[in-house]
Amino acid sequence: MIDCREIQKSYGTVSVLKGLSLSIAEGELVAITGQSGAGKSTLLHILGGLDSPDSGSVQIAGKSLSSMNEKQRAAFRNQDLGFVFQFHQLLPEFTALENACIPALIGGASWKEAKLKASHWLDYLGLSERMNHKPQALSGGEQQRVSIARALVNKPSVIFADEPSGNLDSENAQKVHESFQKLRKDFNQTFVVVTHNQEWARVCDREIRLLDGRVVTS
Ligand SMILES: Nc1ncnc2c1ncn2[C@@H]1O[C@H](COP(=O)(O)OP(=O)(O)OP(=O)(O)O)[C@@H](O)[C@H]1O
Ligand SMILES: [Mg+2]
Repeated sequence: MIDCREIQKSYGTVSVLKGLSLSIAEGELVAITGQSGAGKSTLLHILGGLDSPDSGSVQIAGKSLSSMNEKQRAAFRNQDLGFVFQFHQLLPEFTALENACIPALIGGASWKEAKLKASHWLDYLGLSERMNHKPQALSGGEQQRVSIARALVNKPSVIFADEPSGNLDSENAQKVHESFQKLRKDFNQTFVVVTHNQEWARVCDREIRLLDGRVVTS
């Protein structure tokens, strides 16, 4: 599903990724770990087409990100990739349902279609009673599950998550992790999850640890 080769990325004189290669199969639930500053977020942004490498190639679902122009890449991100961040980044003036609709609307769906899809995923994630609440009326764990529904609404090939449970208490972190495992089991959903949570990393199919700009081979 994901194949990246010899990725290099520097910020000024700081070399963050030094020729990093990895492959991730369809339906794999992979944890990316490593110390703060190891380049985990940088890697996730490059794999997700949110940032470009200085050199190297990224292929997702058989498509090469570097051969796309900015507009094509944005459309690919919208249709094929889902993103969950540490802070949910929900729009405060919209309800949970409306927030989860946004990628579908961007992709050209009508409000009616978008609401049908978004409510399905909110329901799946146990939020059927909370759909018409705005983010401020939801708990941190509920907010994060709305952002997972938003990531799922266009049925992406891959979901990228950057410390999705980093801001949650252990009970809500557990719910987020369980929802990823359930999605993988029910739909063979591929996940790439940056985490500092070692316990969770061990539960994933595979842990990819970054050190000094490369993957640690164990
Ligand atoms: N836009 C940027 N400009 C300059 N330096 C950057 C930029 N983004 C990241 N860096 C640097 O690149 C290195 C890797 O950053 P990155 O955010 O990928 O680390 P991380 O592994 O995600 O860390 P954390 O666990 O703290 O989130 C750090 O030294 C950081 O300061
Ligand atoms: Mg980070």
